[in-house]
Amino acid sequence: MEPFFVAFPLHYGNLTSVFRHADNDASHGSSLIAHRTIFAALFLLFSAYSAYVYTAGTKALNAEPMNDRARHGQQLFQRNNCTACHQIYGLGGYMGPDLTNVISRRGRAYASAFLAAGTQRMPNFHFKQAEISALLAYLDFVDATGTYPPTNYHISWLGTVSQADDPR
Ligand code: HEC
Repeated sequence: MEPFFVAFPLHYGNLTSVFRHADNDASHGSSLIAHRTIFAALFLLFSAYSAYVYTAGTKALNAEPMNDRARHGQQLFQRNNCTACHQIYGLGGYMGPDLTNVISRRGRAYASAFLAAGTQRMPNFHFKQAEISALLAYLDFVDATGTYPPTNYHISWLGTVSQADDPR
């Protein structure tokens, strides 16, 4: 961030003298040189901006890749249409609560009890124990990808958004 701000006035100084030169001098050759200088300066700024955005600007969470059990859980989640009533990252039906962070907020035992027995408002799917642990593995996986809803986020001067207090 710092060198970018420091460098900009220097480029700007060069650019103004280039503009003045181009206005006063009618000769085609030197205005072509001026245009090239402006283009080169803009290209350099664009390159520096791109390099920043694609490196420092993107910091992914260290989520584990999805393992086989979690993948099985994802299939069960889709086949039984859990999203008819539940959301992940706010997307889905609104009869039940959002499940993005149900494991870290409520715990595996709590989630497991809902899957094993249902409630008055959530159906009992009569899952086998292996299916329950697959669904828990999937919910674990989702939980590790981030926090929903984001509570404390930071907008940088470039316009990139990061989450300041993600516990993971
Ligand atoms: C017909 C709607 C419906 C479907 C389908 C459904 N649920 Fe639910 N679920 C609910 C409701 C409503 C609650 C809240 C129940 C309560 O408090 O009595 C709930 C609660 C839960 C909870 C506890 C969440 C919390 O924060 O308290 C979990 C975990 C859960 N469901 C997982 C699932 C999974 C996994 C599936 C798919 C296999 C599923 N549900 C399918 C309606 C549904």
